[in-house]
Amino acid sequence: MKLPNIKEARKRTDKEVQYIYLNQEYNQNTLKDKKYFLRTYGCQMNVHDSEEISARLESLGLTKTEKLENADVVVLNTCAIRENAHDKLYGFLGRCKHEKEKNNPNLIIAICGCMAQEEGVVNELMKKHPYVNLVFGTHNIHELQDLILANNHQQDIEVYSCEGNVYENITYKRDSNIKAWVNIQYGCDKFCTYCIVPYTRGKQRSRKSSEIIKEVTDLVNKGYQEVTLLGQNVNAYGKDLPNELSFAELLEQVSKTKIPRLRFVTSHPWDFTDEMINTIAKYDNIMPYIHLPLQSGSTNILKKMGRRYTKEEYLTLYNKIKTTIPNCAITTDIIVGFPNESDDDFNETIEVVKKCQFDSAFTFIYSPREGTPAAKIKDTISMSTKEERLHKLNELINSYSLSANQKYLNKVVPVLIEGLSDKGNNKVFGYTDTMKLVNVTNAQNDIGKIINVKITDAKSFSLDGEKAE
Ligand code: SAH
Ligand code: SF4
Ligand code: F3S
Repeated sequence: MKLPNIKEARKRTDKEVQYIYLNQEYNQNTLKDKKYFLRTYGCQMNVHDSEEISARLESLGLTKTEKLENADVVVLNTCAIRENAHDKLYGFLGRCKHEKEKNNPNLIIAICGCMAQEEGVVNELMKKHPYVNLVFGTHNIHELQDLILANNHQQDIEVYSCEGNVYENITYKRDSNIKAWVNIQYGCDKFCTYCIVPYTRGKQRSRKSSEIIKEVTDLVNKGYQEVTLLGQNVNAYGKDLPNELSFAELLEQVSKTKIPRLRFVTSHPWDFTDEMINTIAKYDNIMPYIHLPLQSGSTNILKKMGRRYTKEEYLTLYNKIKTTIPNCAITTDIIVGFPNESDDDFNETIEVVKKCQFDSAFTFIYSPREGTPAAKIKDTISMSTKEERLHKLNELINSYSLSANQKYLNKVVPVLIEGLSDKGNNKVFGYTDTMKLVNVTNAQNDIGKIINVKITDAKSFSLDGEKAE
């Protein structure tokens, strides 16, 4: 039993990060004929962690099921970024409980991910959800097989609240054989005042560039068409390691593996250098697409958020990117209703959005997270005002998304075809280099290939096209 501790999670020391090379072997007959059901909430980090979790469960012989009622083990990989993430989990947990009580008393229910790192959540699970068998944290994933095997149908909580280590030799069961996620760093040290991530994921730990390049080279050899380098602050890569490459240098080295398409998320405006912009512009296989969270257009609010840049600095960076990489798509994240955000503050956000005309944006109403500094601020802005602001912002964002997409009409663009489209009619879907979703006709045989597509229709959130001759 090891419970999460927010004070420990907040701590940042000089303690050196351990690079641990795992050498784990399990007997695949151990849980042969058993099935697991895995549900993932949250960001790409969690999606990729779930690929590790799947591989770990399958190393014991379990096979995957999409049906809860067929499962022997249920794993819920949770997100803690906003309150509604909690609501989603507890909703689904109700279904799991029902399943266990009515049909399968031996069902092992496991909860992991960022919510597992929260003191309040774990207390509630202990008090109100004793049927949950296992809670393991983001720092405990490498122990999963042992935790499952040791579970005696009592509740076991194994959550380290540490700064974290870096584990190598991890096996993944990747969701796709066309595109892959590659972690380049774990954790975050930015401590934006509203954000829970530095508490749930530990301190920033960069992987060694040699390991990253090895992993990407292996993916290239397996025929992967696209790699996305993953981290909460990818462009702060290497700053925590002496003699390590900078992010720009890493991009250059990874680009030289000849992976057809290279992407990266998420970049922090504060860490963006000219060298990075030039590198992205220089290499054809580094995709002209940058997710560059703005959060707010008001310097006053940005300061309270601890974002380390002003409105003007963001705009200067934005313009520099657009002039150096003219075809670059830029998307963003925006929070409305940060405590005491005034009408003027909000209007500054609107002003920046009008200047930048983002290709698209994820927009959120601020959600107080227990343990973060912003959660202690007394807020005078009503929820209805926040909702109105979100609505106004979204209308603007959507209009720019539509006009960004309309620029593609009648153009022929390269699209990496990923699979059958949910639009039916033998349509397939894929993404442009600028990360626009395209539904394509006449390309059923091109899954896994980058083909030229003529764009025939543009909507706010997707394009239609046909394979070009
Ligand atoms: N590391 C990335 C994003 C992390 S979380 C970055 O620095 O931008 C993804 C997005 O969730 C954030 O960009 C932010 O817009 C939003 N977010 C984070 N904490 C939030 C909170 N407490 N309330 C509302 N939105 C939040
Ligand atoms: Fe959260 Fe800020 Fe870190 Fe992004 S940079 S994960 S918003 S603390
Ligand atoms: Fe959510 Fe954790 Fe990602 S809080 S957004 S799953 S890092």
